[in-house]
Amino acid sequence: MSVARGEGADARRIDDAIASPAIHADPAAFDALFSQLRADDPVRWTEPADFRPFWTVTRHADIQEVERDPNFLNAPRLILRTRELEERTRAATGGSSVLLRSLVNMDAPDHFAYRRLAQAWFNPQRIRLLEADCRALAAECIDGMLERGGSCDFVADVAVLYPLRVIMRTLGMPRSDEAMMLKLTQEIFGNDDPDVRAKRANVDLAASVGEFQAFFRELSAARRADPTDDLAGIIATAQIDGRPIADHEALSYYILIATAGHDTTSSTIAGGLLALIDHPEQMERLAADPALLPMAVEEMMRWVSPVRHFFRTAREDCLLRGRRIAAGDHLMMCYPSANRDEEVFDAPFAFRIDRTPNRHIAFGYGPHLCLGQHLARMEVRIFFEQLLARANGFVRDGAPLWLQSSFVSGLKTLPIRFRAR
Ligand code: HEM
Repeated sequence: MSVARGEGADARRIDDAIASPAIHADPAAFDALFSQLRADDPVRWTEPADFRPFWTVTRHADIQEVERDPNFLNAPRLILRTRELEERTRAATGGSSVLLRSLVNMDAPDHFAYRRLAQAWFNPQRIRLLEADCRALAAECIDGMLERGGSCDFVADVAVLYPLRVIMRTLGMPRSDEAMMLKLTQEIFGNDDPDVRAKRANVDLAASVGEFQAFFRELSAARRADPTDDLAGIIATAQIDGRPIADHEALSYYILIATAGHDTTSSTIAGGLLALIDHPEQMERLAADPALLPMAVEEMMRWVSPVRHFFRTAREDCLLRGRRIAAGDHLMMCYPSANRDEEVFDAPFAFRIDRTPNRHIAFGYGPHLCLGQHLARMEVRIFFEQLLARANGFVRDGAPLWLQSSFVSGLKTLPIRFRAR
C-alpha cells in the first residue's frame, strides 16, 4: 500500500484510517499505516469524512520543530474531535471550542504564568518526597494481585488502580472518591470506545467535565478555607500578579492533573508488562538486574506512547518539510509514530530495555513538555521494582484488548497468569 497522496476514494480511505479511533486498538495496522506515512507522505494533508481537515505530522524531527516554534499555537484546536462533537462543545460553552482552560489550551504569556504555579511542586527533588507513598501504594496493588492466586486482568485489577491512587494522594482526595474519579476519566478519554459508551448510555463529554467541576469546586473551597501545602492547596490559593486565579482556570487545572496524571501512567505500566511478556529474554534480564530499570522505563514510555497526539495551529504561513502550511492550518503531531522513526531509533520496532540513546518524545517537547514526567517515571520504576521482585512466570492468559481512542490510548484488558516468588 502506498499512502502518497492518491486520488479520490484511496486518499479518503487513508485519511479516514488516520482519524479512526479503531486504529489505536490495532497495533499492527497502526504501525503499517504510520510507517508508510513516514516514508511516503510525512506531512500529509488529511481530510477525513467527519472531521475538519489538518496536516498529519509523523516524523520525530518535524514534531520537535513544530513544538519549539512559537508560530504554532495550542489554541484553538487541541485534539481530534468530530465536527459533531466540536459543535456540541460550542453549544455547551456558548461559542468556545474547548470545555476547559488549562495549560494545554494556553499559549504565551498565560501558559508560562500558569505553568509556573505548579512547576516547583513537580520538580524532581519535590517528587522524591512522594517516593515512600508510591512504594506503599504499589505494594498494596501488588498484594491485591497476588491474592488473586495466579491470574488476573492486569489492567482492571492492578494497572488502573495504582496511578489513580497516587494522583488522588497528591490531590489529598479520600479513597471513597476512587470510583467517581475512574468513571469520569474513562468517560473523558474513552469517549469513542464502544465498551465505555455501552456502560453509560449517551456519554456526554460536557456532562462528564461538569461532574468533575462540581467535585473540584468543593475540594477547592475546602482548601481555601483551610490551606494546605499539597497540590490541591497550591492550586486553590494560586495567584498571578497578586490576584487569585479565576474559578474556571482553577477547576481546569485540577481536572488536567487528575486526568493527565493516571490513565497515561496506567497504560505505560500495562503496555510495559505486555512488552516484557512478549520479550521474555528482556524480562529475565530486568528481573536479574534492577539497575536496568531507569532505562527500561524509558523504553516502556517509547514503546507504549500512550498520548497519541496533540494539535497545534499555525499563526502565520510557513514551510514544514517543504509543505506550505497556511496561517490557521491545524497540525496533528503523532507521538507514537515519532517514537518509531527510523531516522532517530536504531531498530525502532525492537523492544530493548537498555536502549541508548533513547530520544523518545512520549512526554512531548518544548514549552508544553509534560509537567508530570518525573512523577510518571518514578511511579513506573517503583512499580516494576516491586512487581519483578515479588512475582514471576508472567504469561498471556487470553487476548489483550486496546482502547479505541485517538487521544490517550492503551490496553483496556490484559489477562495474565503469574506465580508469586
Ligand atoms: C506515562 C505517563 C505520561 C505521559 C506519556 C504524558 C505525556 C504528556 C504529553 C505528550 C504532554 C503534552 C506535551 C506537549 O504538548 O509537548 C503532556 C502534558 C502534560 N502532562 Fe503528562 N504525561 C504523563 C503523565 C503525567 C502525570 C503523572 C501528570 C501529573 C500528575 C501529567 C501532567 C501533565 C500536564 C499538567 C501537562 C500539560 C503541560 C503544559 O501544557 O505545559 N502527565 N503529558
